[in-house]
Amino acid sequence: MPTVYGVNLRAATALQSIIGASSQAVAACRAVESEREDALFVDPLAKYFAAYAGGALPTFLSSYVSVRTHFIDRELLDALRRKHDQGPPGGVVPNQVVLLGAGMDGRMWRLPQQAGSPPPAEVVFELDQKEVVDAKDAVLAQLEQAGELPAPRLAKRRVCLSVDIRDPAWIQALNDAGHNRTSGTVWILEGFLRFFSNEQIDALIEQLSQNCACGSSILVTVPSATSRDRRRAEDPVDAKYQWRFGTDDPVSYFTRFGWKTVKSVSVEDLADQYNRRPRSTELDTPAENGSKAEPSVMSNPMRHNYLLRAVKID
Ligand SMILES: C[S@@+](CC[C@H](N)C(=O)[O-])C[C@H]1O[C@@H](n2cnc3c(N)ncnc32)[C@H](O)[C@@H]1O
Repeated sequence: MPTVYGVNLRAATALQSIIGASSQAVAACRAVESEREDALFVDPLAKYFAAYAGGALPTFLSSYVSVRTHFIDRELLDALRRKHDQGPPGGVVPNQVVLLGAGMDGRMWRLPQQAGSPPPAEVVFELDQKEVVDAKDAVLAQLEQAGELPAPRLAKRRVCLSVDIRDPAWIQALNDAGHNRTSGTVWILEGFLRFFSNEQIDALIEQLSQNCACGSSILVTVPSATSRDRRRAEDPVDAKYQWRFGTDDPVSYFTRFGWKTVKSVSVEDLADQYNRRPRSTELDTPAENGSKAEPSVMSNPMRHNYLLRAVKID
């Protein structure tokens, strides 16, 4: 049975690459959150996307995913309503959503969940590697055939693209598929930056910044550079493919590309607000000599990631 981030995936449906299967592990976390009495959100498709074989789900991981997902949900709806927009007069209201590294994100079918929400966006674009796009499409096709696929809610249309984001041609593929670069976009980069080098993310942010109008929003999980460097010392092999990007100053990072940060929070602080901070006993590993060892970076992703929303101002 394959295990990704400590999540047991069903061998028959788990994706082959760890990076691809990470999308299924994240969906497993959302499926578990959805079952809680005090759920922060209910994602009816997560259990189908998850390839989850059951068993214990690492608390640190599920809480982390729940907090970041809930934050992005709320900010996305605010962005579509243009609340908190501090862009210049004349900045547009976003009417398109682009999910980079969309994975098994189910927002298209679950948001909005409350009354008073904004009307549907024009279009949601989901971009990911081919193996992930194909796996997601297969699940959706099965649900549709069984008459169990909910109607889309977040946008009127969904466009799915198989791309390798390391190839700069991704932006052309997006625009060719109907993304309007003179219009407003909400960009969502959730659990995504860590797979790329700082140079690759610089190029990516530069590209997306030049392909949307003022008033657009970006919602992003940002790994800390300090934690990334610690992880490199702990486990150079793991760090090589998924602890790559990092910054300790996310606000200045996005300012460089013409974005004004309207919210920047540590996931750990939000976890307190949302009642999702894991107990220390769920995190710390006792050292063999009885003293508390320095917990591994992997034991608590909350401590090592920021959540940020910024609005494009120039
Ligand atoms: C941890 S998952 C997060 C998925 C989704 N954003 C979510 O929160 O549910 C990371 C996603 O990034 C995608 N990804 C990683 N490298 C990629 C690349 N070079 N091009 C496109 N997608 C990539 C993976 O396939 C995976 O679906």
